[in-house]
Formats: sequence, structure tokens, C-alpha cells
Amino acid sequence: MQYVDMKGTKVPALGFGTWQLNGNTCSTAVRKALDIGYRHIDTAQAYENEAEVGRAIAESGVARDELFVTTKIWMSNTSAKNVIKSTEESLKKLHMDYVDLLLLHWPTKVVPLAETLKAMAELRQAGKALAIGVSNFPVRLMRQAIEEIGADIACNQVEYHIALSQQPVLDYARLHGLIVTAYSPLGRGKLLEHPVLKHIGQRYDKTPGQVALRWLIEQPSVAAIPKAASEKNARQNFEIFDFKLDNKDLEAIAAISGTQRLINPSWAPEWDQAA
Ligand SMILES: NC(=O)c1ccc[n+]([C@@H]2O[C@H](COP(=O)([O-])OP(=O)(O)OC[C@H]3O[C@@H](n4cnc5c(N)ncnc54)[C@H](OP(=O)(O)O)[C@@H]3O)[C@@H](O)[C@H]2O)c1
Repeated sequence: MQYVDMKGTKVPALGFGTWQLNGNTCSTAVRKALDIGYRHIDTAQAYENEAEVGRAIAESGVARDELFVTTKIWMSNTSAKNVIKSTEESLKKLHMDYVDLLLLHWPTKVVPLAETLKAMAELRQAGKALAIGVSNFPVRLMRQAIEEIGADIACNQVEYHIALSQQPVLDYARLHGLIVTAYSPLGRGKLLEHPVLKHIGQRYDKTPGQVALRWLIEQPSVAAIPKAASEKNARQNFEIFDFKLDNKDLEAIAAISGTQRLINPSWAPEWDQAA
């Protein structure tokens, strides 16, 4: 495993995403992922699978301090009172005393950002979250959180893959010591036939998806959290620590990087223009 330094905490650079995994499918997939060697699990209140994630972790026998678990506060829970209440409910479902990282899932205009982040900082102080951060924040909102509000956030989780440049977010995050967690790193499965990735993969005997993930985790301060329901896919995604892309590969991938955003709900903020 490779690690990313998040303000002094070692975060496994490759994590396991759980969006749209529910019920037994979720607990089985998480349990298999832990058996394969994943130690970083991504869940959220909105995924309605925290209990299954918690069950799989408990049954795996993997020690809590070997794991890095992230959950996210949903948009309807961003008032100070609901941040505390909903996180306590998340911890109960997860069967945990703390999460390693607590994120605000999406920015919202309903509650002032300062109120939400202050409540999240209180949870950190109480030891219920070891670190706090945000998700789906463009640079403008990262700047508001850090420079106006003074929040000590450690991570921004955003959509990031070979077809979506996140250069402004990456530059700002690195400047301020945040990690960027790449969600939908396989472009929700849509990048798995990409001819450039296929071509590169042939040289290393790797699949396009493995090249897409390797490209992410080779970057400083970047972690990636692919989701895979099947054990076969989860295992394949984990087998990316035995090769390294060269400059020619990086140039070929840079040439196809663009603006292909796959997650863009009605409540999304105004995104950064790709650099
Ligand atoms: N913060 C946010 O707002 C946000 C938004 C989106 C996602 N996320 C997080 O990021 C995680 C990953 O993103 P995602 O689920 O959108 O998409 P993704 O990881 O880019 O792609 C998942 C899709 O790729 C398929 N797949 C995975 N590995 C494969 C392989 N080796 N070969 C062939 N197909 C493969 C999966 O199929 P099977 O499942 O059938 O194996 C699934 O259909 C989520 O689960 C969630 O934890 C966060």
C-alpha cells in the first residue's frame, strides 16, 4: 500500500468507495475488500449503508487503528445541532467511537458554512472525528472555509479522473496542506474502454482501469476511492502497486484530460473552470 500524508496522518492512497452498495451486497463487498487488503473505506449518511459498513468492519477482525474510515454529513444535516446529532447517529451505525475523516458532503446555502464547520470542529475536539474536511468544494469555497472562516480542514473530496482536470482544486489544496480524494476515479466505469489507457496498459500488462487508478495515486496529495461490487473488480483495482507510469504515459494522459464531469446535480456549486 502507498500512503498520502494528511496533516501528519497516513492515509491509504487507495480506498474503497461504497456509494450504491446496500444491504448484504454492501457488507459482503466491504468484507471482501478488507480481505483483499483495503484499509480505507468511504461511506456517507446519504448512502444509507453505514450500518452495513460497520458490520463488515466488525466481522473482519481488522483492528480499528489499522483502518481509515470516512463518512459525510448530508445536506439536510448541516445546522450545528444536526451536525452533532447526525454524526452521533453515524457513529452508532458504524459501531465506532470515531471516524478518521468527517466530510461535509456538499456545500449548501441553507446554513452558513461557518456554523457547519464550527460544529464539525467541535466533534473533532471531542475525538469523534480525527480530521474534518469538505467535498465538492470549488476553490472559491475552499478559500472561504480556510481564509475567511479559518477552518482547519484536511481534505476536499471531488470528482477526479483522467477526463476531468481538477488543476485549480489540486493547486489550492496542495498550497494549504489538504489532500484531494478522487471520487468516481474510474469515471463511474465509463473510462474502462479508453483507447489511451488501453494502449498504456498493454505495456505493463494492466487494464485501463488499473492505469487510471495508478495515474491518480502517483500524484502528490491524492487518494482515490474506486467502488466495485464484485470481488474480481475490487481485487483488480487493488493490483496497482507493482508498476509505475513513465513520462511518456503521463504526457499521453495529460493530452486527454478535460472537462468531462459526471456528477453534477441541481444543487452543485459553480465549479472551477478546468485549467
Ligand atoms: N463525495 C461525493 O459527492 C461522491 C460522489 C460520487 C462518488 N463518491 C465516492 O466515490 C466512490 C467511487 O465513485 P463511483 O462509485 O461514482 O464510481 P467509480 O469508482 O469511478 O466506478 C464504479 C463503477 O466501475 C465499475 N468497476 C469498478 N472496478 C472495475 C473493474 N476493475 N472492471 C470493470 N468495472 C469496474 C463498478 O462496477 P461493479 O460495482 O459492478 O464492480 C461500478 O460500476 C463512491 O462509491 C463513493 O464512495 C463520492
